[in-house]
Amino acid sequence: MPEQSGLPVPPRASFEPALPADLNLINLHDYERVAAERLAPGPLAYFSGGAEDEVTLRDNRAAFGRQAIVPRVMRDVSSVDMSVEVFGRRWPSPIFIAPTALQRMAHPDGELATARAAASRGMTITVSTSASTDLADIAAVGGPRWFQVYFLADPGARRALVERAVASGYEALVLTVDLARIGRRERDLRVGFQIPEGLQIPNVAIAAGVTPEEVASVEFVDRMTWPDLEWLAGFGLPVIVKGILHPDDAKLAIEHGAAGIEVSNHGGRQLDATIASLDALPAVVDAVAGRIPVLLDGGVRRGVDVLMSLALGAAAVGIGRPVIWGLAVDGQAGVGNVLDLLRRELENAMALAGAPTIADLTPELLA
Ligand code: FNR
Ligand code: LAC
Repeated sequence: MPEQSGLPVPPRASFEPALPADLNLINLHDYERVAAERLAPGPLAYFSGGAEDEVTLRDNRAAFGRQAIVPRVMRDVSSVDMSVEVFGRRWPSPIFIAPTALQRMAHPDGELATARAAASRGMTITVSTSASTDLADIAAVGGPRWFQVYFLADPGARRALVERAVASGYEALVLTVDLARIGRRERDLRVGFQIPEGLQIPNVAIAAGVTPEEVASVEFVDRMTWPDLEWLAGFGLPVIVKGILHPDDAKLAIEHGAAGIEVSNHGGRQLDATIASLDALPAVVDAVAGRIPVLLDGGVRRGVDVLMSLALGAAAVGIGRPVIWGLAVDGQAGVGNVLDLLRRELENAMALAGAPTIADLTPELLA
């Protein structure tokens, strides 16, 4: 983030003293724009698109615009503590990386670049079942990591996938529940998006015991119900249920063994015209009543978005596409800069809102 030189007051020390190398890349929107210039049409459609009219995709962003911060003043904000504890691990900030598939389509280093950028900052990644890198190779990077589970149709393959994640030191399992079938993503249809030749989905291939070329034939389950969550919880790791929007489903998830809830509509890629993630959050937080942490993803692009999410009861927020944009622009360095920009914006927002600790982020901070 640039020093605000030329202003009539000195900048706060929390800002990087140096000017960024590229003034076109000073926020996450810049990364999105530059990434869109660099990605081929197929990958761009896949990464950026949502379902059908993309109402939910837009509304995830618009929901933040419907909230307003009412800052407090004359409080000591000379130092800001963004750290939070999630499942017993201290996080430097309440920001984690949501799972996105096929990251090697954005940059040749793909998931490894993301993992390295996050690990060097102590930030938690979520690795997708449909990652383009073997989950064991990502684990070898050594940072804090969760594994996102899609259920494979074959019971043996399903178990093998989860067992590999457990054996590779993943600290939590994220069960994505909003993909009973794939959403209709019209950008993909228009450009005829295909997974590029040579790009692999090794976690699925290894679990199913097929060659990389045969992976397209591996089937995912066509039905998943609450007892399946109990089965997954039986592996002993905390299970976060991702894709909850209805407060009654949050309660059912807890009854069936969830250790965390991730309020999400899959970045607007599944059912269109759903409630925005931020709008769904308060009722879910209410239903969960502090029993387990509630996370959120969808449309988070600014520090103030993180602040608003936490004020409405989220324990932490995930980012999906901004990581892809960082990868596409500059691999590991790009992801690192995306992460740094967002957490510096949050630090600044907390100071300016008169909220120097995470505990200060309460509903009273919003209009
Ligand atoms: C996703 N998402 C996703 N979720 C999941 O559980 N498993 C997956 O493999 C993927 N893959 C994936 C690919 C791409 C290209 C996108 C954009 C998203 C959903 C993701 O975890 C998250 O819910 C949203 O991306 C959050 O919204 P933002 O931050 O992208 O607005
Ligand atoms: C997607 C799947 C892989 O959103 O989750 O593309």
